[in-house]
Amino acid sequence: MPLGVIYLAIMPTSDIGLDKTLEALGVTQAAQVTARFADVRAQFDGHFTTVHDESEWKMFRDRWLGRKSGVLTLITDNWLKPATPELKRVVGRELNTLRAHVETNIEERRAAIEAGGESAAMARERVDLSLPGVIRPIGSHHLIRQVFQEIEDIFFSIGFSVVEGPEIETPYYNFEALNIPEFHPVRDDMDTFYLELPKGAPEPLLLRTHTSPMQIRTMEKRQPPVRVIVPGKVYRRDNPDATHSFIFHQVEGLAVDTDITFCDFTGTIEYFVKQFFGPGVKTRFRPSYFPFTEPSVEFDVSCIFCGGSGSAASGGNCSKCKGAGWIELFGAGMVDPAVYGFVKYDAKKVSGFAFGMGIDRLAMLKYGIDDIQVFFQNDVRFLRQFP
Ligand code: FA5
Repeated sequence: MPLGVIYLAIMPTSDIGLDKTLEALGVTQAAQVTARFADVRAQFDGHFTTVHDESEWKMFRDRWLGRKSGVLTLITDNWLKPATPELKRVVGRELNTLRAHVETNIEERRAAIEAGGESAAMARERVDLSLPGVIRPIGSHHLIRQVFQEIEDIFFSIGFSVVEGPEIETPYYNFEALNIPEFHPVRDDMDTFYLELPKGAPEPLLLRTHTSPMQIRTMEKRQPPVRVIVPGKVYRRDNPDATHSFIFHQVEGLAVDTDITFCDFTGTIEYFVKQFFGPGVKTRFRPSYFPFTEPSVEFDVSCIFCGGSGSAASGGNCSKCKGAGWIELFGAGMVDPAVYGFVKYDAKKVSGFAFGMGIDRLAMLKYGIDDIQVFFQNDVRFLRQFP
């Protein structure tokens, strides 16, 4: 309540004679003293009704109990102390009664205001359990991450472990140790991004073009038997289109031991493909070439869109396999003995196989996605389809 309103409710001290002695006010009888105190009390009770909050209460308290110029102090100084001996007793008694009334009421008002404030705060802060909660959207793994996981689980189940390696590589690990010397024509298919290094850097650095460097890094560290898969990102200076991206994902596989044959290789690959695509798919190998495998193969599966027939349901050629009935899945082969020379394995004692799958294309095939770019666009309308 604004100041002015409070002061309207109470009279100035001069109006109730607090600035004068009783004698000056013409009070000579006990009954007049009692009447004066009744007036003061009525003033107090009127003021009391105007006090609703803490700041009003503070002014109220100071007005009545203030040490220098509070009403009770003025009564003590102006009425009690100079009172004639005949009136002193009655003034003292009336003052005590008034003081008790004032103090009790001021304290009660304080408690009421405090409690009111607390209950208002409680009402403000009350938790309304009937309100619906805040729904926080929960993300999910990207489809590529899910496919990685699926592939890792399948290879785990047949004794492979997972290793990971650097995306920034040296030409030695990315090419030379894989039997791809400088100026070998295969490097044309794997043009990549080179890092700008300070002058005098010991060797160039590039973004790896495949996960195969981890074959070398793994064999350098471990002695046979080796059975690992390597999921990861790879980079090539390829122009983007529906099946090419300059960043994509591969899973490398490597198994080396003293007695691994081509049959172990085909058996492992077929097991994986049937687990991944379902038992209905057919598989086939075609001769191919990689400098680090000998013999090398391309591995195909029967087209999962047309069931291997090569024809679309609506007539004409199947658009996915272009009528071939087969879809190329990945490159693989028996590890070339020349590679063992780089990791100090005895090529006469060990043998093994390796493969490198493009995960983005595998995911496209399995989930019927016709543009590789959607994996990198982070459009939630696409991502939400694979919770
Ligand atoms: C290789 O990268 C070999 N390192 C694979 C290998 C490993 C062979 C071990 C033998 C032994 P290739 O260049 O074919 O091979 O790539 C493998 C797969 O990566 C392809 O089958 C394809 O699925 C995928 N791929 C290649 N280039 C791109 C690209 N620009 N965008 C998306 N996927 C690609």
